[in-house]
Amino acid sequence: MSRTVLVLGKDSQVARALRDAAWPADIKPFYVGREINIENQELVIGLVRSLRPSTIVNTAAYTAVDKAESEPEAAFAANFGAVINIGKAAGIVGAAVIHLSTDYVFDGTRDAPYVETDAANPRSMYGRSKWAGESGLAALGVPQIILRTSTVYSQFERSLLQRVLVRQRLRHDLSGVTDRVICPTSASDLANAIVAIAEALPRVGAAGHGVFHFAGQPPASVFEFIAAVVERAAQLGLAPAQWVRPTVAADWPAPAPRPRNGALDCTKVEQVWGIRPLPWRVALDACLLRMAKQATVAA
Ligand SMILES: NC(=O)c1ccc[n+]([C@@H]2O[C@H](COP(=O)([O-])OP(=O)(O)OC[C@H]3O[C@@H](n4cnc5c(N)ncnc54)[C@H](OP(=O)(O)O)[C@@H]3O)[C@@H](O)[C@H]2O)c1
Repeated sequence: MSRTVLVLGKDSQVARALRDAAWPADIKPFYVGREINIENQELVIGLVRSLRPSTIVNTAAYTAVDKAESEPEAAFAANFGAVINIGKAAGIVGAAVIHLSTDYVFDGTRDAPYVETDAANPRSMYGRSKWAGESGLAALGVPQIILRTSTVYSQFERSLLQRVLVRQRLRHDLSGVTDRVICPTSASDLANAIVAIAEALPRVGAAGHGVFHFAGQPPASVFEFIAAVVERAAQLGLAPAQWVRPTVAADWPAPAPRPRNGALDCTKVEQVWGIRPLPWRVALDACLLRMAKQATVAA
């Protein structure tokens, strides 16, 4: 029998990657974007009642990290209020929720990669709103898989990767901080993980519920990631070769504080779900190769 998986946030990087992912034949993904404002409880419940999905994947979020400092209500409305709406709607039809969260729930002071049981202590408004969303969903007690990830990139506009490539093509200065650790995560690797979880959910059941980390490995500095993008993009003819200047976070004061250490330990997701994130250099290569191929086709 076929199952419906409702994907919210149709135009997010992750949902766009989900649209390109290979779903099993017995799952029908149904994508919903801005036409349903997920902050409106009635709309969300109406949608879920009419579709009766077995799983709801929430990729929608307020993701403007710096802007959230001056727009906390907007960040909380999307990252907390809307998540509660989704959880309540899931409860009504007995659906499971796969929800995405972030390394920004941590303060970044740990000297090792974070595990799921480490205490959250978000420092930014974005991090606080995402932590409120996680906690609110957990309190509802609906079947849920919360996937915390880090620095999601993709071939789609607005992603960090595209922002770097635009600067590289324009020969604008490029720099990256060496004292901030991230786990660069390919939207398509994350999408494949979501599909695998949605497929296995009926089999794995409650043993698979809870919080999991899923992010590219091993952890790297922002500088290492940007330098790798620039080098490989030049090799593939996507942009001219360019030097990337190493710098430090203190030189880049931003409205929102970022965790110094955003490394996520992904052992649990492998143990429970049998899923291992790709090494980020491998996933980055695949993403840039896709872009080079598309550029050749378009030319
Ligand atoms: N990007 C990262 O580096 C990163 C890192 C860690 C975790 N995450 C998490 O991963 C998830 C996906 O991130 P992403 O980068 O793929 O997201 P994204 O590309 O920034 O897209 C977020 C989407 O959510 C939509 N949205 C926001 N508020 C909405 C509302 N009230 N109703 C309906 N749609 C709404 C946005 O629409 P508009 O564009 O019209 O506002 C946008 O299409 C999020 O939960 C994010 O917190 C992301």
